[in-house]
Amino acid sequence: MELISTIFSLILFFTPFIFFYFFHLPNPKYGFKSYPLLGSLPDFIKNRHRFLEWSTEILAGCPTNTAVFRRPGKIHGVITANPSNVQHMLKTNFENYPKGPRFITLLQDFLGQGIFNSDGHIWKVQRKTASYEFNTNSLRNFIVHISTAELQTGLIPVLREAAERNRVVDLQDLLERFAFDNICKLAFNVDPGCLKGVGNNAGSEFMKAFESAATLSAGRFMYIFLFVYRIKKFFNMGSEMQLRDSIRIVHEFADNIIRSRLQERVERKGEDLLSRFIQDSSNSAEMLRDIVISFILAGRDTTSSLLTWFIWLLSSRPNVVDKILQELKKIREYDTDSDTYSFDELREMQYLHAAISEALRLYPPVPVDTKLCENDDVLPDGTVIKKGWFATYNTYAMGRMESIWGKDCLEYRPERWLDENGVCKQESSFKFPVFHAGPRICLGKDMAYIQMKSIAASVIKRFTFEVVNVKEDAIPEHVLSLTLRMKEGLHVSVKERLLET
Ligand code: HEM
Repeated sequence: MELISTIFSLILFFTPFIFFYFFHLPNPKYGFKSYPLLGSLPDFIKNRHRFLEWSTEILAGCPTNTAVFRRPGKIHGVITANPSNVQHMLKTNFENYPKGPRFITLLQDFLGQGIFNSDGHIWKVQRKTASYEFNTNSLRNFIVHISTAELQTGLIPVLREAAERNRVVDLQDLLERFAFDNICKLAFNVDPGCLKGVGNNAGSEFMKAFESAATLSAGRFMYIFLFVYRIKKFFNMGSEMQLRDSIRIVHEFADNIIRSRLQERVERKGEDLLSRFIQDSSNSAEMLRDIVISFILAGRDTTSSLLTWFIWLLSSRPNVVDKILQELKKIREYDTDSDTYSFDELREMQYLHAAISEALRLYPPVPVDTKLCENDDVLPDGTVIKKGWFATYNTYAMGRMESIWGKDCLEYRPERWLDENGVCKQESSFKFPVFHAGPRICLGKDMAYIQMKSIAASVIKRFTFEVVNVKEDAIPEHVLSLTLRMKEGLHVSVKERLLET
């Protein structure tokens, strides 16, 4: 009894000191506040739900837009929004900043050794084949063909029906399902039919399992102590049990397609990515599965994320919509028969290109990206980074840096991308690393622009959208999984646009 009361008295006595120690230390002038033993963890926990805004505020206040982040267990790292540092990490000293074993291990169960989840030789070999294929006209034509066909038979009829029936739809959900159908066609020429919800059971089950595997795998990065997920995995409990089930469904679906293709053993039969990678006989069935799954993950939520933010941005900017419509009219007089545009027409759309780039600047689908520092290094701004630290570039913050975009950096202004001839300028990929940069730059960048322009042009020409679940002047809340998604979706009332001909 006496012991308990002594302990109790000691706690009472020390509590004010502990509070004072942790919460009333003088703030550093800039950067993440760091407490003894706990590093920046207390502030991280307090701001985890608004990580992007919080890290943007901190980086904007640092002289070189770069800050050191310390966590207990010697998990330290650098977070930067400085283009010179980004160039150094992603290009100049590329070999020193791989994804690293931590990243790869956390995603390994789901992605295996696919391009998105490998380093070194395994990555290089896949990158070589994929870069070659992504530069062929046949793949480009195949991509344009898929998007236009899926638009004509999928998205446009679904929106038209919503307009006729005066129904409110969740545009984010529709765009995600549409993107999933699209990317599965590209990956292995199978349409799971998720958009129309009439897909065979296996297709819809595949999409659901894929969603859940991606979200639960991303959730592993959020553990403060990684051993927690390992214990859950070992005992097959909770989220880890769900993850295992989802991965099994994804793998079975992909394996069935791959097995039957391998049995056919034919010369290149189709234009899809699987047909292209199958040509290399050194790829085992398991490797083919990893490759295809990586591509589905890379191309799945990125374009739908951007288009959702884009339509929300346009919903309060009728002047931008007018300019897009004027451009479409200049390219082709409105005709009621054709809902889609050709590759050459899409390339001509410079204002639309600028409007999409401006949306990508403020709402990048991959808002932060992290590498591992393999050996001690000094970044171009003088920040010291040690072996084993993480190195994160914060694309979301970079889009909001006055030092990069000027005083009006928070304004949505497509014109900043246009030169005096109305042609959309190419920005340095280190200043605008929305598609990554250097040797690992996104392979789908050109294809993504074509797809996004094709969807945006067709949809904006045909429909108007009134957002019903976000208040005027409010910004939709986001969730951070592997991509930037709206927390509550984007609920819109759809109407057919009255076209002047
Ligand atoms: C708006 C759309 C897109 C954005 C913003 C985007 C962004 C990115 C980013 C930031 C990375 C680097 C990720 C990392 O290494 O950690 C990446 C890689 C990649 N992206 Fe995209 N992406 C988009 C669309 C696509 C599409 C449609 C595809 C095609 C299927 C694709 C294929 C890839 C591949 C294969 C990689 C891995 C490249 C490598 O590691 O060598 N992306 N993308």
